[in-house]
Amino acid sequence: MENILDHFKNPRNYGKIEEYDAFFEGGNPICGDMVRMYIKLDSAKKSIQDIKFEGKGCAISQASASILTELVKGKSIEFVSNLTKETLINELGIELSPTRLKCAILSLETLKMALFGKDFKLT
Ligand code: FES
Repeated sequence: MENILDHFKNPRNYGKIEEYDAFFEGGNPICGDMVRMYIKLDSAKKSIQDIKFEGKGCAISQASASILTELVKGKSIEFVSNLTKETLINELGIELSPTRLKCAILSLETLKMALFGKDFKLT
């Protein structure tokens, strides 16, 4: 939980990229919380050169977005395409109820929508 609170209070990679290659605003309709992901790719369009997020909402959704940006920055698109809910949840390091699970995966859904549109299956 300490890790979550630290990321919530001091989010990493918070902000916007003006000249992004991919962007999506994801939201949780149940609570109205939201996460926006801005992604800049390398010149070969194969990896994530830079990533930033903005958002508002509960500690878990926002901390998860912060943790996710740290996890994928500099990594290949393929890495993101293979990234599962489980991996992100392990990074969060806490037990989650089904409702909180929605909070935790909002960032991952948003990132995958930004990069792959509707053609991905969240696993
Ligand atoms: Fe809204 Fe967590 S309560 S995403």
